[in-house]
Amino acid sequence: MKDYDFLVIGSGIAGLVYALQVARCGKVAIVTKSSLLECNTAYAQGGIAAVLDAHDSFEQHLQDTLKAGADLGKKEVIRAVIEQGPKLIQYLVDMGTDFTREDGHYDQKLENLSLTREGGHSHRRVAYAADSTGRKIMESLVVQCTKCPQIDIYEKHIAIDLITQHHIMQNHGFIPGISCWGAYVMDNATNEVEIFRSRKTMLATGGAARIFGHNTNSVVATGDGMAMARLAGARLVNMEFVQFHPTSFYSPSGETFLITEALRGEGAILRLADGSEFMHNYHPQGCLAPRDVVSRAIDTELKKRGDKFCYLDATAVPKDILLKHFPNIDEKCRQYGIDFIVEPIPITPAAHYFCGGILATINGITDIKNLFAAGEVACSGLHGANRLASNSLLESLVIAFNAGNHPSNLDDVDFPQIPPWRQLDVFNENEWVIISHNREIIGTIMNGYVGIIRNRRLLKYALQRMENIYNEINNFYQHNAVRPEVVETRNMAIIAIAVIRSALIRKESRGAHYVVDYPERDDAQYLIDTIL
Ligand code: FAD
Ligand code: SIN
Repeated sequence: MKDYDFLVIGSGIAGLVYALQVARCGKVAIVTKSSLLECNTAYAQGGIAAVLDAHDSFEQHLQDTLKAGADLGKKEVIRAVIEQGPKLIQYLVDMGTDFTREDGHYDQKLENLSLTREGGHSHRRVAYAADSTGRKIMESLVVQCTKCPQIDIYEKHIAIDLITQHHIMQNHGFIPGISCWGAYVMDNATNEVEIFRSRKTMLATGGAARIFGHNTNSVVATGDGMAMARLAGARLVNMEFVQFHPTSFYSPSGETFLITEALRGEGAILRLADGSEFMHNYHPQGCLAPRDVVSRAIDTELKKRGDKFCYLDATAVPKDILLKHFPNIDEKCRQYGIDFIVEPIPITPAAHYFCGGILATINGITDIKNLFAAGEVACSGLHGANRLASNSLLESLVIAFNAGNHPSNLDDVDFPQIPPWRQLDVFNENEWVIISHNREIIGTIMNGYVGIIRNRRLLKYALQRMENIYNEINNFYQHNAVRPEVVETRNMAIIAIAVIRSALIRKESRGAHYVVDYPERDDAQYLIDTIL
């Protein structure tokens, strides 16, 4: 057994910020299922939103967030997160994050930060580091964590299950007042499962967009934290609101990468195959309308024409801006034979972000005692029905920081006797197809039946099929030695079911959830969260 004061599951921005805060009051373990840098944070391009310009205001950022979220966001949460923005951007700068500066000269002050614009923002308020913002943030936080003597880092270790009363008590039914005492964690190299015992556990496992076959996410985004919390008895909230990013690179092979919204912020235009613009037919903000509107518009136009992709045309943006601000996109497009300075980029929408997640407060507190959640895994109430661009890094940063400074981190905990993981000797290779095959099918069903434009009949079919898939995978999980792929695929099925169930509960269209049977918003009945 490994014994720590704090167990942090996940090494994205949320996990690392929490770890750095609590390292001041105890020993910390960070477990992360791939390498330290493999996470959605590291792929973030556009930037991090905060009120940093004298002509901008907290009130305007609040209004933009609320509006993008179709009024479902919680005003008090939005205000609290936004007001902490400037202070915590300063924190990132102090940690060493090298944001792009107006004059190219690095200093510790915020005044000189260059700000870009993204969809739904009424101001330039997105701080960025060229088109690799997330990577720069990760690099600075990783340096701080690796040099901190209080922090031990376990790469290629996957958390399988939270340790709660469910593991301690025999023949339990419903158990009120669940506590968390750490997690069972598998070393991917040896398949050994060990107890990581901790006074506090932080779930910072990120999102779940990998349940959709076509997505922008890191391979790690399989919804593990959401599934573990659900199985332990925590509530999931607003899982139907899956945000599709309008512009992922289209290639016939299906390989993809994100084309940042900041490119539209600098003037790039969406065009159909015949070269025509179309976004002003859908929204007064045109190409810079909120993301849900743009993705739906593209989906509608593609279906109308039977096309697989349309174009993002940046050729009117000055070449020096393109090369300075978007070197990563330039390089990636060139790998596919596209020179985005002189020709349009083929794009299509892709699943991108989970607005819902584990119900958590502004301090990351969940339904389960001693368990925090922060970042994309959690739902704090900031985003409502659709996230405003670049508000996710901000939310992850603020809530992880708050959790790390919460007084309960100092609480003493009485630990029960924790049983070892019951590892089975059998592993039925012949039935591995249950995992490999179903993993692919989950992605296909979610894309086809639970995509940008939904209908209730298809949602019901999807639910039936997903429940069968879950039963097959769970049966394999129960009767075979545990493996990372099995854990992930089971989690993916659990989260897919949560998305579909939530989508069926909400009989209206709002934000990222659009269902043709109920195309309008229904504030009288549905200006409420969907809680599982
Ligand atoms: P992540 O950074 O995804 O980290 C999750 C961590 O948990 C990983 O280390 C993973 O390995 C680990 N993990 C998961 N499951 C387990 C397990 N079972 N055991 C152990 N470890 C586990 N947002 C913005 O605000 N601005 C942007 O410009 C922006 N651009 C984006 C671009 C792309 C391509 C993508 C995919 C997302 C973007 N987002 C952006 C969203 C944003 O990056 C994420 O929401 C945010 O980084 C989430 O941070 P996190 O710490 O919660 O999770
Ligand atoms: C992007 O750069 O377009 C992604 C920004 C985000 O997801 O907030």
